[in-house]
Amino acid sequence: MLHTRICDRLKVAHPILGAPMAGAAGGELAAAVSEAGGFGMIGGTTPDGPDALCAMIRAAKARTDRPFGVGFISSAPGLDALVRVALDEGVAALAHSFADPTPWVQAAHDAGVKVFAQVQTVAQARIAAHAGVDLIAAQGTEAGGHTGYSGLLPFLPAVIDAAEGIPVVAAGGIADGRGLAAALMLGAEGAWIGTRFVASAEALSAPWAKSRVVEAGTDDTVLTRVYDLATQAPFPPTVGDRVLRNDYTDEWHGRNDEVVRNREELAGRIGASIQAGDTRVAPVRAGNAAGLIHDIRPAGEILRSIVEEAERILRERPRQVIR
Ligand SMILES: Cc1cc2nc3c(=O)[nH]c(=O)nc-3n(C[C@H](O)[C@H](O)[C@H](O)COP(=O)(O)O)c2cc1C
Repeated sequence: MLHTRICDRLKVAHPILGAPMAGAAGGELAAAVSEAGGFGMIGGTTPDGPDALCAMIRAAKARTDRPFGVGFISSAPGLDALVRVALDEGVAALAHSFADPTPWVQAAHDAGVKVFAQVQTVAQARIAAHAGVDLIAAQGTEAGGHTGYSGLLPFLPAVIDAAEGIPVVAAGGIADGRGLAAALMLGAEGAWIGTRFVASAEALSAPWAKSRVVEAGTDDTVLTRVYDLATQAPFPPTVGDRVLRNDYTDEWHGRNDEVVRNREELAGRIGASIQAGDTRVAPVRAGNAAGLIHDIRPAGEILRSIVEEAERILRERPRQVIR
């Protein structure tokens, strides 16, 4: 059986966290991941505000007694009120990404709540370690949605080296047992998985988004700013957005100044395309792991198959490659 330090610290059976994904990971998905023995997380940054987050947390509690967390886009406005709700509701952990987690650590710890930091650079990992977070997610550029520019293979060990002994998990590109086994061999304590769970029965994502993830191949993503610039999304300029390529990204990727000049018209087109489920323009946030995803399944089944495959590989592969 796979077992790492985070299994004890997070009180879970398997070293897998469901990534917090705004618009995709609600209470149902977080609960399904936790019920299957992982650590589920709700994407807590919602345009509908604290009441909507409270409803998601309660939906998760109604489905599981196991621990789960809430993760934020911490560069977005309104964070204070969202954090308050999550603390009041007594979730097990809060995750911060895209901003320095330092201001949020003490109050969470005082309430007995763990703090995770998702980082895109080694410098951010050092800041998170200094802030005293309980877990660091090293996010490689392969990841779906907003992410940085370093590949997980070199980035993960560099973050582990900088983490001062704080457990580090791998985020980006992990959709099966091969990815989990590789991350564990690099020294990660587990995997923080997003795109694979977008294509799950419990994800909040629209059916057209789930279908596109299943259809997409490894080569079909682009790391771009053409949605964020048009919609004025609150991310730092050092962060890109990995989405599935479509007519909109083919037309506008790399033309950032023109996107800004045409902002209003493009934001209108994007909004309308989301309403209509028109994936020629609508963003579908997904990582390179899309190429490894061939079906939409219940999250618990997905989690169990990743764990079983990783266990098998970690037992058999060393015998094949060491004499
Ligand atoms: C649809 C989608 C939405 C996401 N939303 C968030 C978010 O709200 N907050 C966050 O910290 N990360 C977010 N992420 C990034 C994930 O936390 C995670 O880093 C990523 O999914 C891991 O890579 P993978 O998609 O290859 O598994 C999102 C990712 C996806 C695919």
